Amino acid sequence: MAPPAKERRIPVKTELDIVTARVEGRNLARELGFGTIDQARIATAISELTRNVVLYAPEGEVRVRAIVSDDGRRGIEVVCEDNGPGIADVDLVMQDGYSTSSGLGMGLPGTKRLMDEFKIETELGVGTRVTVRKWLR
Ligand SMILES: Nc1ncnc2c1ncn2[C@@H]1O[C@H](COP(=O)(O)OP(=O)(O)OP(=O)(O)O)[C@@H](O)[C@H]1O
Ligand SMILES: [Mg+2]
Repeated sequence: MAPPAKERRIPVKTELDIVTARVEGRNLARELGFGTIDQARIATAISELTRNVVLYAPEGEVRVRAIVSDDGRRGIEVVCEDNGPGIADVDLVMQDGYSTSSGLGMGLPGTKRLMDEFKIETELGVGTRVTVRKWLR
């Protein structure tokens, strides 16, 4: 089956991949009609999610695509997944300031605030998939 129109997949392993994913996401957001502020929010979300993959997984993939809701709203979806260690306590990692590294612990809760929808699926020893969406208004 052909991939959905406008889907972009970026392997995530290095710092450079984070930059590539960020640029691809921003470009798609612009093409879809998001303004510069939302483009920046989406690019920041992609940076945070992909940086977590590099730091904690340590590799994975991010997919960025155009979506349409049941009621016809258009938007963008970012799916960032890895085969890393998984997250034991999702409520804990969603708290501002919780970090197992020297980070600020703001990446995941900040990403949730930047986007309209946010979902984490994770299983210990299997990996983590974070799906975020933003709708055009
Ligand atoms: N993909 C992942 N796989 C496993 N653990 C993760 C993953 N992403 C995040 N975590 C865990 O969740 C914690 C919180 O992540 P978050 O991005 O909010 O903060 P941080 O990466 O520690 O710091 P910051 O993003 O502010 O630099 C991390 O410290 C790490 O323990
Ligand atoms: Mg982080």
